[in-house]
Amino acid sequence: MPAGTAFRTLALILNSKGYTNRYSNSDFMKTLTGILLLTLSCSLQAQRNCGSEAYKTQLVQNNPAVAQSIQAAALQIKKTLEQNRLVARRDTSANELINIPVVIHVVYNTPEQNISETQILSQLTALNNDFSNQNSDKVNRPLVFDNVAADARIRFCLAQVAPDGRPAKGIIRKQTSMSVFSADDAVKSNMRGGDDAWDSKKYLNIWVCNLGGRTLGYASLPGSPANVDGVVIGFDVFGTVGSLRPRFNKGRTLTHEVGHWLGVKHIWGDTECGDDEADDTPRQRTYNFGCPSFPTVSACSETADGDMFMNFMDFSDDACMNMFTVEQKKRMRALFATGNFRNNFLASFACDSTLVQAGPVAVDTVAAPVPVKQDVYKIYPNPASSFVTLEYTPAAALIKKSFTVYSITGVKVLSGELTKEKTTLSLSHLMRGIYIVRIGEGSETITRKISKQ
Ligand code: ARG
Ligand code: ZN
Ligand code: CA
Repeated sequence: MPAGTAFRTLALILNSKGYTNRYSNSDFMKTLTGILLLTLSCSLQAQRNCGSEAYKTQLVQNNPAVAQSIQAAALQIKKTLEQNRLVARRDTSANELINIPVVIHVVYNTPEQNISETQILSQLTALNNDFSNQNSDKVNRPLVFDNVAADARIRFCLAQVAPDGRPAKGIIRKQTSMSVFSADDAVKSNMRGGDDAWDSKKYLNIWVCNLGGRTLGYASLPGSPANVDGVVIGFDVFGTVGSLRPRFNKGRTLTHEVGHWLGVKHIWGDTECGDDEADDTPRQRTYNFGCPSFPTVSACSETADGDMFMNFMDFSDDACMNMFTVEQKKRMRALFATGNFRNNFLASFACDSTLVQAGPVAVDTVAAPVPVKQDVYKIYPNPASSFVTLEYTPAAALIKKSFTVYSITGVKVLSGELTKEKTTLSLSHLMRGIYIVRIGEGSETITRKISKQ
């Protein structure tokens, strides 16, 4: 804008607010010269971003000490950001509680697969009990193995903060046209009928879907690509309540898979008499299934205590697995050390709802489409003899419906209106045979066959 216009505008503002009275003459002149300078330089450059710079220059000219204080403030910002980065890179301290924010992607096709919140919460509880050695079935362990059982000091919460800083619930529900998923990771991708991961450096992504029954669940190992990092669990083995497969109804599929996600290997080392790189789990020939009893000695058992079949990293039934060991715990926690793959989680704050950084979103959950309610008609008994009842349960308000009964040759034999929920018609004057009942008009017409005997 031309300087002249700016000046006139300024003068007007000053007059109308009466500021001139509160300034001494020289103060006023100083300010005015400053603003004029600013306005002038404004008109020389692109108008949109010159204001603050010029303003600062003018402030500093009037008071050189301001320069220092502005610089100090800028340095503060830089320092804090640097410190935050250092915090992210710090090592774990011994037994410090590591909090893992979790986001559950419920990717469902049928309503049955759209598991309840209660079922989800039951799984979270089981997972935390298992990882903290607080599972009530720990009493079933033989003493020798109980002696090496460990509380991993890792806890899981439903994410309270979304990636964009807004409040979250940690549960995403998404309907899909896919009736079954396999271990090909389609469930982790919007494009393939699944749901994209949240930043896997900050969240443990858990997809719950129909895996078709053969696979209970699978996990990505540490080091996997970010967009597929997380675990997938069948909806019918997830949690401890709901309709669950009886052998897998204690939430241990997730415990097992999160074990993998945290770098723990199968207890038999995935080859015959293999090594799981945990010294306190005895060598065992292969996996166990079902519910073995103690001791179960196998080909390469080193002591009479045999296999640690109750370890979460075996394949026993849910009711028969109940522990992680100290060495398994060490493997998990090593992942969080400085520079290691899951170190970022030490700086993840998404478990704390007080740390949301933006306003709420209207809906956090993608709601399932609500099925459209329809009128329900029942005609009974069928076959009928002397009477037939037409029952009409309206989806909304009851509106009069016309009806007509035709013989099989198309002759209208009866007609009238349904004005209440049940209407009984006499058929005694009609011959035996098939009749067509038509109710309603236009696109909402329904037809039913009845047979008179
Ligand atoms: N990935 C293994 C499977 O699909 C999980 C085994 C979990 N075991 C259990 N008892 N829940 O077979
Ligand atoms: Zn496994
Ligand atoms: Ca071992």
